[in-house]
Amino acid sequence: MSGTENYKLPEQVKILTQTTQLKGLMTIIRCKETPRADFIFYADRIIRLLVEEGLNHLPVVDKNVLTPTNAEYNGIAFEGRICGVSIMRAGEAMEQGLRECCRSVRIGKILIQRDEETHQPKVKKKNEIDLYYAKLPKDIASRYVLLLDPMLATGGSAMQAVQVLLDNNVKEDHIIFLNLIGSPEGIDAFVQRFPKVKIVIGELDACLNEEKYIIPGCGDFGCRYFGTD
Ligand code: URA
Repeated sequence: MSGTENYKLPEQVKILTQTTQLKGLMTIIRCKETPRADFIFYADRIIRLLVEEGLNHLPVVDKNVLTPTNAEYNGIAFEGRICGVSIMRAGEAMEQGLRECCRSVRIGKILIQRDEETHQPKVKKKNEIDLYYAKLPKDIASRYVLLLDPMLATGGSAMQAVQVLLDNNVKEDHIIFLNLIGSPEGIDAFVQRFPKVKIVIGELDACLNEEKYIIPGCGDFGCRYFGTD
């Protein structure tokens, strides 16, 4: 199933290069027969690819070094400090992949409560987020943020999480949002509200079903990764 031929990805969305490796890894994590240990192992491999691509969107400066042959190498160095922020619970699955690429990276967490009927973030009063957990690095306003959530379905939780980051003075164009699988509905809603956030996705799927699962998707990512129902 594809069904995405007529959908044009917005320019702020970068999709991973569609290699046979990536397709093979995606096939394993999408298969409902895949045992949990394999799901974790192969999802982790995709997460590493997403993190590496996300890091490509950080600013760099020129840097020349001498190699052991005493020849000059015209290279670059990364500029700007980063941190991760995972959207609980499924986003926590992406923390290890970020740590493997960025040693001792600071990682904050945001938990947005979802309404099980509407599948949207719960709202206490008009426009007030029922956010019941956020723990962020103190100096987050001066950092680039790699926002972690494996599935971009409706985009509801992700948009609330970005709002929390903006309320903590993170610059919108300093946020890079990483997902394994995205839906056109979620991408469109997200991009319309936060056009300066960069999104990196592994694959683009066709649509959402009535329960707001991504189709074909991989089911409930958090439950499959953490082994719960
Ligand atoms: N979250 C998931 O884990 N899977 C989906 O398909 C949508 C949201």
